[in-house]
Amino acid sequence: MLKIAPSILSADFAHLAQSVQKVEQAGAEYLHIDVMDGHFVPNITLGPLLVKALRPHSKMFFDVHLMIEQPERYIDDFVQAGADLICIHAEACTHLHRCVTQIKETGAKVGVALNPHTPLNVIQYILPLLDLVLLMTVNPGFGGQKFIPQVLPKIDELSRLIKQNGLTAEIEVDGGINAETAPLVARAGARVLVAGSAVFGAPDPAQAVHDIRRAAEQ
Ligand code: DX5
Ligand code: ZN
Repeated sequence: MLKIAPSILSADFAHLAQSVQKVEQAGAEYLHIDVMDGHFVPNITLGPLLVKALRPHSKMFFDVHLMIEQPERYIDDFVQAGADLICIHAEACTHLHRCVTQIKETGAKVGVALNPHTPLNVIQYILPLLDLVLLMTVNPGFGGQKFIPQVLPKIDELSRLIKQNGLTAEIEVDGGINAETAPLVARAGARVLVAGSAVFGAPDPAQAVHDIRRAAEQ
């Protein structure tokens, strides 16, 4: 079963609760929340306060994507604010296993994100601990970028690795996902599809959620 995760990065920040409710009513399973620190990535977005403010407005699974250096400093704050899953970047974390363990100890689900160029072997030995692996299909930092097709074989390889070892980690993809690219990533084995501009940049975000799901399920 595919899950659609609209990214609020492309939503209207002045009317966030209404935007979130639109995609929730359309059946989106995850709400993807992009946190950027101006160091790991060039952009700055939002923090735990905004997650806390949104929490009473939605029952969706809050998928918090931390594009920040030394994420261990903020894990507790995001969990207390209402994150259901915390995803950290392997490239931003010196002691990745320690950081993954720290997230698990809070009771939240844990994901590790990999930039397009980062090989899968950086997570080889911790894969059994993970609930989710996020394969970036753009270089992180901004919404509305073009899908990088070179990541497709990586999705396929991770999917086989998970199956061969009887593991349960979900494969999430993020960046440039729309009704055209959704079938490609779904065929390669992605199960959680993040879409920002394709959902919130569309005239009807609810329709866009349906269109991406339909395209991916073909
Ligand atoms: C990019 C973010 C994405 C972003 C995707 O760094 O991690 O979640 O919102 O936006 P689109 O779907 O427009 O590529
Ligand atoms: Zn993201």
